[in-house]
Amino acid sequence: MTRVFDEDLNAGFGTKAVHAGQRPEPLAGAIMTPVYLTSTYVQEELGKNKGYEYARGKNPTREALERNVAALEGARHGFAFSSGMGCVDSLMKLFRSGDHIVCGENVYGGTFRLFDKILKNFGMEFSFVDTRDPKNIDAAMTKNTRAVLVETPSNPLMRVTDLKGAAEVAHKGGALLIVDNTFASPVFQRPFEHGADIVYHSTTKYLNGHSDMIGGIALLKDDGLAERLQFILNAAGAVPGPFDSWLALRGTKTLHLRMRQHDANGRTIARWLVDKLGAESVMYVGLPSHPQHELARRQMSGFGGMISIELGTKERAAHVLKRVRVFSLAESLGGVESLISHPATMTHASVSPDMRVKLGITDGLVRLSCGVEEADDLVADLEKAFDGLPKREPARGKREEMASR
Ligand SMILES: Cc1ncc(COP(=O)(O)O)c(C=O)c1O
Repeated sequence: MTRVFDEDLNAGFGTKAVHAGQRPEPLAGAIMTPVYLTSTYVQEELGKNKGYEYARGKNPTREALERNVAALEGARHGFAFSSGMGCVDSLMKLFRSGDHIVCGENVYGGTFRLFDKILKNFGMEFSFVDTRDPKNIDAAMTKNTRAVLVETPSNPLMRVTDLKGAAEVAHKGGALLIVDNTFASPVFQRPFEHGADIVYHSTTKYLNGHSDMIGGIALLKDDGLAERLQFILNAAGAVPGPFDSWLALRGTKTLHLRMRQHDANGRTIARWLVDKLGAESVMYVGLPSHPQHELARRQMSGFGGMISIELGTKERAAHVLKRVRVFSLAESLGGVESLISHPATMTHASVSPDMRVKLGITDGLVRLSCGVEEADDLVADLEKAFDGLPKREPARGKREEMASR
């Protein structure tokens, strides 16, 4: 299984991003890790090989990516998968029928769908709880709980989970803490430092950063757990191809630079949105008005480019979504280009309407992934898109109050 190069671990983040896990290629000294397009490896004689037998189990391009991201997260082992969902699915194979998982109620819709629509049928049990308060995690733990899975900041409501608190509760009950770190990236949040046991990403997003591949990656510190995951990776086979691995590896070289710009643009646009809509309609963990801003400041070193806004109705959301030109209406996030989406009908369509209402994923909710373009151009684009926005109907109680005046 892939293990970080120990000598990579002392470097600063940017140096790790560029170099960790990669060494000049031995044949010609190519500085870039080659794309090892091969399914198998020639063996010198029976039982004698260079450590590679068949590419489902191991591929040098994939290994470079795994070592690189493991170093960035401060882990020891990395396992790359063919998608973020393939990664979560393989992680769940660490468990078995009868095992219970406590999961954040506001996770990516696809994660919820995998648990609720597929894994439940195999006898696994899930409780979906509001993980903003570790007490809710504690209350949901049973004697069969094997893991607590949280996504922070969460998609799309930007809720923050106290990682240290979650780790304490999980460990007290003998469970692992699994953290989806896709939104923050290791540049701004380092879950292992708060007690996480497994960290994973959809590499499709910030790690790759260029919207040109689909992938996932899991990072672990514990050797025994890592051996079990290597077995699953090889046995279940949800591995990425070498070219996708290479694209993700090229992406991580500039992760620290891109994240700075995502963060700067996120802050500028969030402030503009507050002026336009009022602080109560803008969900951005970097805003002092965010109810968990202090916690976000404690456990994150930056806030990134993800913002959600509440526009009140689907009609108002559609008005903005139709008029953007620099932002593109599309699913996904974390690329250099700015994207805008409608969670209720796109990323979270698989969450039932009742559950969406309960969570606050309304028809008026719009999610923005601020890219790395010029902030002025992004603001100008939103100015135009908001132009002529239909007036917001007062909320029901207010309407009745006004009518009775
Ligand atoms: C936070 C988060 N986790 C996991 C995933 C799943 O990743 P993928 O689309 O690469 O399968 C997504 C996808 O949007 C996501 O936003």
